[in-house]
Amino acid sequence: MKDTTRLTSATLGRARSRRSVNTPVERGSTVLFESADKLYDDDIKPTYGTDGLSTQVELCRMIAELEGAHESFILPSGLAALTLPLFACLAAGDEILVVNSCYAPVRRFLDTQLKRYGVTARYYDPALSADEVMALARPATKMIYVESPGSLTFDIQDIPAIAKAAKARGLLTLCDNTYGGGMLFKPLDHGVDLSMQALTKYVGGHSDVLIGSVSVSDAKLAATLHKAIKAWGFFTSADESYLALRGLRTMSLRLKQSGDSALKVAKWLERCPEVLRVVHPGLPSHPGHAVFARDFSAANGLFLVQFKGDGEPQSQAFLDLLTLFGLGFSWGGYESLAVNCEPQFAFRTRTPGTADPYAEGSFIRFYIGLEDPEDLIADIEQALGVFA
Ligand SMILES: Cc1ncc(COP(=O)(O)O)c(C=O)c1O
Repeated sequence: MKDTTRLTSATLGRARSRRSVNTPVERGSTVLFESADKLYDDDIKPTYGTDGLSTQVELCRMIAELEGAHESFILPSGLAALTLPLFACLAAGDEILVVNSCYAPVRRFLDTQLKRYGVTARYYDPALSADEVMALARPATKMIYVESPGSLTFDIQDIPAIAKAAKARGLLTLCDNTYGGGMLFKPLDHGVDLSMQALTKYVGGHSDVLIGSVSVSDAKLAATLHKAIKAWGFFTSADESYLALRGLRTMSLRLKQSGDSALKVAKWLERCPEVLRVVHPGLPSHPGHAVFARDFSAANGLFLVQFKGDGEPQSQAFLDLLTLFGLGFSWGGYESLAVNCEPQFAFRTRTPGTADPYAEGSFIRFYIGLEDPEDLIADIEQALGVFA
């Protein structure tokens, strides 16, 4: 045998260590079949690298465990894990009701892409009750999209009630369950049909991976998603999957630390004269606190603060004075972050006749990571002069 063959033969180099604790990173495009009669056997999986090899399979299994799902699928980003099920479950002529406090890029997908395929999105106020949301549904409505606490504004929805009412009407529900990393809330247990997560956040946990998941408890829905993922050619790499798997092992500790520290910082901020409002669902001052405390086992490390400011200019001045907080949009990593929110609030549809709670003041969303909260408080304190 020539060296060229020795180095490239598909049948050599098969000895594998099966003694390490972790599932290894298994990369591959070609998948080998045992015999020719298996080549076109539909029951064989995987038949190709895009089906996912052992690393991806293990991650899907772990996410399914976490979400209490019949089956979980992974996608190359959290956003892809939202857009794929929307595309897979909706068709021309259908309508979707979307909570106004959804992660903003979903709105862009619905309004610029899905719209071209004849799907209409209407946005509803997160303060609406389950009955009020159902009252908005028309014959064309096929899906209700929920997210609680909502992105940036942390509005709380009664997801169990919405899921129940939607099921009674034969409507699907999709929940962005990124907030709690699959630990703090279990949408599928409450009757939600599709639970999605940006694993990029707490699951990855180190700001070095982009990956998403979507989980379902119904086998028919699982088949729909599987067909769509295969047809679109979405593929999530083994390296990203490995990092998500590794992150899962320590997530509960990181999530608890981040959530506990965030409550400390939020409570301190509530006492500051420069602050108009701290919007944190774990605080009794939050209007949705009772529902949040009923459904969620704890809060994560995110919250919003309304400062006595003149909008974006003062927000930016404050952010530029922070030394321990990075200025960046993702979250769930070990590092604390802050962003101002005014430009993102401008996206949202307003309910006619209602006051805009985000019209006045300067708005900062904080993400509290694993630093000592005393140091973070000192950093915020030295920048507060901006709002004096
Ligand atoms: C609530 C929520 N959902 C989905 C996403 C999208 O995740 P990704 O950044 O992996 O696309 C994000 C990202 O910030 C998010 O905050």
